Amino acid sequence: MAEPIQPLDPATMVRSPGLTYQQLLDQDTRPVPAVLREESPKLVPDVAISVERYTSKAWHDLEVERLWRRVWQFACREEEIPHPGDHIRYDIAGLSFLVVRTDKGEIKAFPNACLHRGRMLKEFDGRASELRCPFHGFAWHLDGAFKEIPAQWDFPHIDCANFNLPEIPTATWGGFVFINPDQDCEPFADFIADLARQFERWDLSKLYKMAHVARIVPCNWKIAQEAFCEAYHVNGTHPQILASLGDINSQVDVWENCARVISPSMTPSPLLGDDVPSEAVVRAMLDLREGDPTPDLGNQMPRAWQAAMAREALRPAAGDLVDEYCDAEMVDNLDYTLFPNFHPWGAFNRIVYRFRPNGNDHRSAIMEAIMLAPFQGERPPPAKMMWLGEDEPWSKAYGFLGRVFDQDVFNMPKVQAGLETTYMKTIYLARYNEAKVRWLHHKLGEWVEGKV
Ligand code: FES
Ligand SMILES: [Fe+2]
Repeated sequence: MAEPIQPLDPATMVRSPGLTYQQLLDQDTRPVPAVLREESPKLVPDVAISVERYTSKAWHDLEVERLWRRVWQFACREEEIPHPGDHIRYDIAGLSFLVVRTDKGEIKAFPNACLHRGRMLKEFDGRASELRCPFHGFAWHLDGAFKEIPAQWDFPHIDCANFNLPEIPTATWGGFVFINPDQDCEPFADFIADLARQFERWDLSKLYKMAHVARIVPCNWKIAQEAFCEAYHVNGTHPQILASLGDINSQVDVWENCARVISPSMTPSPLLGDDVPSEAVVRAMLDLREGDPTPDLGNQMPRAWQAAMAREALRPAAGDLVDEYCDAEMVDNLDYTLFPNFHPWGAFNRIVYRFRPNGNDHRSAIMEAIMLAPFQGERPPPAKMMWLGEDEPWSKAYGFLGRVFDQDVFNMPKVQAGLETTYMKTIYLARYNEAKVRWLHHKLGEWVEGKV
């Protein structure tokens, strides 16, 4: 039996010097919503996170059997399959599923395998009037009902009335389509409840998929994911943004199936001391170079100034909704994670990350960064996924933000290499700043090692 996760008292817990996130919210120029005022710090026990979780093929195989074959997971956006016959292929760790919009407008998902001799039914995303296997032509309707077998007289042993494609559970939330390979899985409403409660104010279904970029990264999927689950690494990895990010003053909250790290922007890291001028904060945030003039903030604090700029930049697309959002919602990094690998950001932060194993190679992962955006009028078509080559930088797709990703990705194969050679059996994690990573491993322990 694993030690349970314990609630912490925010008033007495050990934390960084400098302003807490809640104290920063006290300075907001607008009313702060309850969702940001909530605190749920937890002491996630010192679980022994074995190095083999990252290096062992046997552990990967267990993950496939006990996690990926059983857990609810984000497959695609609803807007990617708007019309009957639209389908996407979703692959996870050597498994492949078809997510299909039926004639009635429902979303269904099936294992991507023909019931004749097993050929994959569809290799590519697209639109079709039926699901017909390219090998010998067995066909099913879009809802998975049996349609036809060429030369059916030769298959008297097949009961065509019951020869439908096996269906797996699907669900939608916030414009995202989730699937579960386990036909006996827990109800989605229970699984998503914690996250759904957090996002009541931020309806991601109203946004459209503006960009979607993917890249193979040479490390276990958890190494890639964990690089985006704490701000503690900013000091070592992204020193250029330290003056504009309250890295170790982030607020970390843990619930059952979701957790969040809120990293405040436009406030300096406590690691830089108490005397960072506002000018340095703004220059770091705007990535200004020597000789570039610093904008005039008037008498505004940097956070309020940046929030006002962001409101006007978003107003044409988001309308007056921007006036309902407080400064923190406009500028901070509201980084949520739904177990095991779905990372939507709150408010207008726009980013959604997903990290997956790359097939069954446990030393390689697929890292994706999706950008969502508000729009007026007709929904713009969703961006197609763009693959970066393994040597191509994220900056090619995402500019300044991409350069930050590139710094993260630079570490990844080195972490894998270090873990392959370390004499240590386990890794260590900070109690508070790395609590989301602790929580992820606590959950993985429950799912993969059965420590419940
Ligand atoms: S394998 Fe699909 S029709 Fe033969
Ligand atoms: Fe980073």
